[in-house]
Amino acid sequence: MRRRIASLIRRNPWVPFVACACLMVVFAVSVWIRANGGIIVFAGIAFAAACSFWGYCYRAFKFANTPSLDHLHRRQYAATWDALASSPQEARAAACGATDERHVRLSAQRAVNNITELAGIQPGDHVLEIGCGVARIGLELASRCLQWTGVDISQNMLACAADRLSQLSNVNLVHLTATNLDSLPDSSFDLVYSTNMFDHLDQMDRCRYVQDAFRVLRPSGRFYVDNTDLESDAGWAAFANGVATLQSFERAPFQPMLATEAELTAYVRRAGFVNIHAHHRSPVVILIAIKP
Ligand SMILES: C[S@@+](CC[C@H](N)C(=O)[O-])C[C@H]1O[C@@H](n2cnc3c(N)ncnc32)[C@H](O)[C@@H]1O
Repeated sequence: MRRRIASLIRRNPWVPFVACACLMVVFAVSVWIRANGGIIVFAGIAFAAACSFWGYCYRAFKFANTPSLDHLHRRQYAATWDALASSPQEARAAACGATDERHVRLSAQRAVNNITELAGIQPGDHVLEIGCGVARIGLELASRCLQWTGVDISQNMLACAADRLSQLSNVNLVHLTATNLDSLPDSSFDLVYSTNMFDHLDQMDRCRYVQDAFRVLRPSGRFYVDNTDLESDAGWAAFANGVATLQSFERAPFQPMLATEAELTAYVRRAGFVNIHAHHRSPVVILIAIKP
């Protein structure tokens, strides 16, 4: 019941205000027409209760700056991420929490360093990012490789990415209409990576992207994937906080889902990769693997 009410109010934030206004009118009219004392008291109590409910809702949702997406399921990826990226500014915020270009570029450095150090980027590489968002990472990596391709399920994200990459000629953006890489040919990339993206996927979709990464990589191609690490202290703290505070609320479809080294290794190994190495760099766990 509480969850239904919370979800209703998130989707229709005007409801408490309208309820309050209606009950105020009822109370005022009952006083004006000198209605029966019981009716006046009842209308007064209902009006006061509606006011305090309105105040509660205002405080509860004051800090929610993301749209209410409780009505969407996790696997409605396109609807979720298009809603989160309804303007270029919101797209940047949804990708990395920063809205101004300088901070977006700064925020990319950690992942760029990890990818460069652990997977390596060669000048002749064809590189693919799965779930590229606003090309936060692509903008930094494109100048270091031959061709950079970014794929994403959200057209709004890709529109922002196209704008950010407009000065580069060796980039390619592909809109995915489903959670797979069916639109990309076999054995066509030297490096496939996905960062800050698997957190948002259902487990089976994570596994599908690993299998598809294997297919589109050339022999000796490298695969890089990261996810917030349930086994790190920071990852556990975020997860435990959710356990403590999100019991009676709908969980948003973009709520990060943590993973472990064991889970990611299972997908990567079963897909056929070899030379699998895990790196724990709190709060993420990174897997690097090679296609034989
Ligand atoms: C938090 S953003 C990160 C974007 C980018 N990797 C970065 O680090 O800046 C997650 C991205 O994954 C994309 N995404 C979510 N679900 C997806 C799916 N099923 N297939 C492909 N992309 C997806 C979203 O549209 C969004 O652009």
